[in-house]
Amino acid sequence: WLISCLTSKNILARRFPAPFPMMKISVTITNGVCRTRKSHRTRSGPGPAGQGRQDAGAPAASRDRKAGAEMARIDLDGLQGCRRCPRLAAFVGQLQPSRGRRQDDYHNAPVNGFGDLEARVCLVGLAPGAHGANRTGRPFTGDGAGLFMYPLLHQAGFANQPDAVAEDDGLELLDLYITNAVKCLPPENRPNADEFANCRHYLVKELDVLHNLRVIISLGHGAHNSLLRLFQAEGLVDRLSDVPFGHARVHKLMDGLSLVGCYHTSRYNVQTGRINEKMFLDLLKQVKTLARGENG
Ligand code: URA
Repeated sequence: WLISCLTSKNILARRFPAPFPMMKISVTITNGVCRTRKSHRTRSGPGPAGQGRQDAGAPAASRDRKAGAEMARIDLDGLQGCRRCPRLAAFVGQLQPSRGRRQDDYHNAPVNGFGDLEARVCLVGLAPGAHGANRTGRPFTGDGAGLFMYPLLHQAGFANQPDAVAEDDGLELLDLYITNAVKCLPPENRPNADEFANCRHYLVKELDVLHNLRVIISLGHGAHNSLLRLFQAEGLVDRLSDVPFGHARVHKLMDGLSLVGCYHTSRYNVQTGRINEKMFLDLLKQVKTLARGENG
């Protein structure tokens, strides 16, 4: 992964843009099954401010690279049916559906990340929400954290629409991949150290596949610490205390790769004012600057 951040692959991708810039090819790989869907990209797609993938200030090669991007889920070998964490596997089976819903309405299985495989930005959350991602099967979809986050991602140009309600709602992430540090629903939203560790190799794979990666957003302490342990194993971080979590705090992990902390967008944090719309939007702006290779 580290090497691929620096190899000529990126340069080649920029020099030779995708052949059909107005044709979008969606690739979804689930359980080893690859689904593709072709659709025409509209130039008015991104947020109201006209930001995002058709970023007016971006160089032409970068615009072309973005237009040829794929939406996909990274194939994480062994994720579906994963039994590495017995506590989590047992917990999901006993979860009571929320009012008006039935057991069948729930995904109740590991939740894979999703987004743009050409993304320069990856947002890493904690773990699926009980009645959100664990129900719908897609990170931050159907719960309070997503209700706050997706309209702002859209406003900042990282999503084609503000709504995220179900897997087939037409949501596309732009220059962004979203995943969680832990892929299964944990009791009380608290994975333990073993569960973070068991799940970390899936995160390694995801970061490895995202070959254009420039910025990683750690959403909350849990995700941040899990990422730090991963970077420590890769030799990018010496002591964890050298890379403290803080909202909008940027750490350069290596040339061209930054880690940015962000308060979690949980309903609790929003209601208590720990994070608000302006804070999140400002952070996304900073992330865009870093992704372009400028100082944020
Ligand atoms: N939903 C997710 O997918 N991740 C979180 O961290 C919280 C809610």
